[in-house]
Amino acid sequence: MSILVEARDLSKSFGKTRAVQGVSFAVAAGEAYGLVGPDGAGKTTAIRLLIGALGLDTGSVSLCGTSLAANPDKARSSVGYLAQRFALYTDLTVQENLAFFGAVRGLARSALQARSAELLGFVGLAGFENRPAGQLSGGMKQKLGLACAIVHTPRVLLLDEPTAGVDPVTRQDFWQLLIRLLAGGMALVVTTTYMDEAARCQRLGFMHSGRLLTTGSPRALTQAFNGAVLELTAAPLKQARNVCMQDADVLDALTFGDRLHLRVRSATGPLQRLPGMLAAAAVSVAQLRAIPPALEDVFIALLAEHKS
Ligand SMILES: Nc1ncnc2c1ncn2[C@@H]1O[C@H](COP(=O)(O)OP(=O)(O)OP(=O)(O)O)[C@@H](O)[C@H]1O
Ligand SMILES: [Mg+2]
Repeated sequence: MSILVEARDLSKSFGKTRAVQGVSFAVAAGEAYGLVGPDGAGKTTAIRLLIGALGLDTGSVSLCGTSLAANPDKARSSVGYLAQRFALYTDLTVQENLAFFGAVRGLARSALQARSAELLGFVGLAGFENRPAGQLSGGMKQKLGLACAIVHTPRVLLLDEPTAGVDPVTRQDFWQLLIRLLAGGMALVVTTTYMDEAARCQRLGFMHSGRLLTTGSPRALTQAFNGAVLELTAAPLKQARNVCMQDADVLDALTFGDRLHLRVRSATGPLQRLPGMLAAAAVSVAQLRAIPPALEDVFIALLAEHKS
């Protein structure tokens, strides 16, 4: 298996803020590595260190076998990067944006036309060549951003919250493109706060306060979860939450649409006590049952452990 991204012991501080501390991971061809974590965890800083947009305090990065410190231009030439707040030129058309990023990435003019057509077909924007980027929908902008990021056919792609603010259907669409890139042997590092996106990665690193608290496949992380989760469908939900939190075995309650996920020390006690407590508080319960933990549950539990 060829390792295309190797980050060893990355650290970076801004004044007293230790944005990234001792972060190490490796990503192979065809693999998506997800960096997840709350706001300010250090995800963007980690990605910027990988591309060399920020200098490291300590540690080293190697991209496609090339050391970023020793040979930055060569190392970067194999990498595509879609920044968290990436900027398309809104006055330029779709085609002109691609031409601009192609030129920045050193693509020969003669190669540009064929590559543009290929990319626009790939991201589903064929026919939109002459539309100003500012007049695209959110999802189309994201896809054009992706096309611009891979205009030079990189082997490594770094995506910083690529689908933030995009609806779930468009997110699904966008991931179909990423899955095709992965199948072609690309290595992907993606930051996200969406768990449906995280669940698509082969491996995840969970960051908090600059550190990687845990890493593993989504399945391994949920299997290692210590505790139990109950799902409660009830109304009114806010009142239900207040009642549940009074039970000594309920550690926290997370809202998922019309349901609560209760993280509990053990399932038995709360399963016996909660129906009575909820009825007494005039909460109507549609369902209360033990469920396998979701990735959210795992990360919320990790954060809670880390704070206590
Ligand atoms: N250029 C900078 N100067 C000073 N502090 C910074 C700078 N960039 C990031 N930080 C700080 O470093 C920490 C990590 O920030 P970073 O942007 O990497 O987090 P993040 O996980 O990407 O968060 P978000 O989910 O908000 O994008 C934060 O405390 C942030 O305020
Ligand atoms: Mg960020």
